[in-house]
Amino acid sequence: MLDKSPFRKYVLGTETMIPLNPYRLARYINFDNAATTPPLKAVLKAINGFSPWYSSIHRGKGYKSLLSSRLYEESRSIIADFLKIDLAHYTIIFVKNTTEAINKISNRFCQLEDKGECIILSTEMEHHSNDLPWRNKYKLDYIEVTGEGLLSLEDLEAKLIEHRGKVRLVTVTGASNVTGYINPIRKIAGLCRQYNARILVDAAQLIPHRPFNMSDHELDFLVFSGHKIYAPFGTGVLIGPTDFFRQGEPETKGGGTVQLVTTEEVLWNEPPWKDEAGTPNIMGVIALAESLKKIKEIGMEKIAEYEESLTHYTLKEMEKIPGVKLYNNKDSEIISIIPFNIEGLSHEEAADILAGEYGIGVRNGCFCAQPYIRKLLGISENEIKKHLNRPHSLHPGLVRISFGMYNEKEEVDYLLQAIREILKK
Ligand SMILES: Cc1ncc(COP(=O)(O)O)c(C=O)c1O
Repeated sequence: MLDKSPFRKYVLGTETMIPLNPYRLARYINFDNAATTPPLKAVLKAINGFSPWYSSIHRGKGYKSLLSSRLYEESRSIIADFLKIDLAHYTIIFVKNTTEAINKISNRFCQLEDKGECIILSTEMEHHSNDLPWRNKYKLDYIEVTGEGLLSLEDLEAKLIEHRGKVRLVTVTGASNVTGYINPIRKIAGLCRQYNARILVDAAQLIPHRPFNMSDHELDFLVFSGHKIYAPFGTGVLIGPTDFFRQGEPETKGGGTVQLVTTEEVLWNEPPWKDEAGTPNIMGVIALAESLKKIKEIGMEKIAEYEESLTHYTLKEMEKIPGVKLYNNKDSEIISIIPFNIEGLSHEEAADILAGEYGIGVRNGCFCAQPYIRKLLGISENEIKKHLNRPHSLHPGLVRISFGMYNEKEEVDYLLQAIREILKK
């Protein structure tokens, strides 16, 4: 394993000093990259370089408008190139984030499918953003996870058989934001095809950590967020079949979404513009395109390999500390996420001490995946229901560390030392 990250130099803010308690200064260690990543230096350079040229897009005839429009539209090709998307069949729609992308697809499904007949299969390991948008619209069923938190393909197939012909969509995370487990997307997509169901992959956690080739997987929908892949300017991506988005109405209507408007009728624009109402986030799109260009230049394979070795090293070392309970295992395929708890401390206390006394930023709680966390902790649905009227009376959760390409062994060793000291105290 490399002691130093060869990619640290590309990332902004890695050497920031912060105040600790009791007062002293320390270099901030960011182990919360699954929530959001810092920007690449190249991204900020691109934003600065583009700023003097920034202008309205699509409808302006001025030089800056034409240039801004061209860069905005070219960004779709950069994304298509990064993920190997065939633009003859797919459209790339820019949205705010993964959450908005999934909501948009779920709203369109509502218009296009007979809700009485339509069954959506989600899973027990989803982020709330790939669970809640499907509720109260369709018959929703959840593919089970094992006690360890791994998705059960047997249960997926059993449910596809049980609801044969009615499952319109299987919506599944590419990698879990809690355990980091990478789902076998190719196999899941194969089963979906066999039973005539579409597949949506929530790739918010997968795309920043693994090379991904959409045309290898025969997916229908793929969604992810720019801010989790070093482009924190508020852009998300929704990729889906152009034909699907040609049908129905956009849920947000207005400027840019139409070709022709009479007082009574509307001829909607072609995808993707039909679904990008109003002035879009041009800066955010430029930022994301630049980030993907830079990552392509660095090599996603190299990033994945580096992060994998750092994660395996960390897991191996954490396993050796009595008093640390881990919630994933290194024998499964995982991205750079490690959920754990420290004996004798709540997840909240552990995260507070790591942040306040050691300057290590981690996440704690349920990471917007409450059903999955409860499953991992063995808390029953009945137990939870007792707390519906007083949600703060029950506080289950984990501590999560998640690496970006710039984290290093030295930072991990410092964390391990901190955990040992906390346990000793
Ligand atoms: C797997 C997964 N899906 C969806 C989301 C939601 O992403 P966003 O907040 O960018 O909409 C997250 C965020 O953590 C995530 O980890």
